[in-house]
Amino acid sequence: MALLLKAEEAEDFPQWRAALQALDPALEIIDWPCPADARQRIEYALVWQPPRGELAGYAKLRAIFSIGAGVDAILADPTLPDVPLVRMIEPGLTRGMNEFVSLAVLGHHRFMLQYAARRRARDWSPIQQIDASQRRVGVLGLGQLGRAALAQLATFGFALRGWSRSPRRIDGVECFHGEAGFDDFLAGCDILVCLLPLTDDTRGILDARCFARLPHGACVVNVGRGGHLVEEDLRAALDSGQIAEATLDVCQSEPPAADSWLWDDPRVLLTPHIASMIIFDSAAAAVLEARRQWLAGERPAGLVDRRRGY
Ligand code: GLV
Repeated sequence: MALLLKAEEAEDFPQWRAALQALDPALEIIDWPCPADARQRIEYALVWQPPRGELAGYAKLRAIFSIGAGVDAILADPTLPDVPLVRMIEPGLTRGMNEFVSLAVLGHHRFMLQYAARRRARDWSPIQQIDASQRRVGVLGLGQLGRAALAQLATFGFALRGWSRSPRRIDGVECFHGEAGFDDFLAGCDILVCLLPLTDDTRGILDARCFARLPHGACVVNVGRGGHLVEEDLRAALDSGQIAEATLDVCQSEPPAADSWLWDDPRVLLTPHIASMIIFDSAAAAVLEARRQWLAGERPAGLVDRRRGY
């Protein structure tokens, strides 16, 4: 049984191979680009951002496993073969995202960007702390990562709310859904965290209209995709004070253009799409478990519904 591996970084291949073969020594793992004589053997593809058209070239392909939680780059391929596509759900990725979301939310909650600016100005003055119970944190997207982030944020005592396309119930979280619930959700978010999948419905969701509905001086954390955010709308909202600060782990163009305002703006904490990375051992276990489930006629947790786009 052969699996094609297109890792996020070429150097990841040995670690992926070791993790996969420790669990399934019989699995043949073929590095990308696939040699011509191996193409006919490939039954599974484990991929990060495969070039368009690539996956259509494997006649025996039975399933595609995404190395990322988001599958927008894979679904953007119009020639994508009609085989099951499974997004990555693994505990290491979830823990990493919990850490990053907590870091970003706590950073805004405790004014860390403002203290960085005060330090540059040799200003030692304090800012009145706000109790976490008075800080309303909203998470857009209540999938695996959104729900886990909310559970982590709950430990700090924030007032939590969440928004998703369809109705959800989460203990201790005020849940909103659909277009009808969007504005009410936004009206109570002092810190807004985007953990949505990128689909036609969510592209550009963090735009001027969204910012105008947030409380004045709100903060925005985007750990979804660059396509969720209209960057120029964010800049205008920062300039007007409607948005106080933002943490952006993802951008329209990664990296941003050399002359992009995002590099220098002190109101933006910018990181290079590192909010969360898979842990090879637990990710390999998740992929092989999803394969087992699929072969046994069960439904893997991360099976993508192509119509929904996640
Ligand atoms: C990273 O961006 C992912 O999709 O997991």
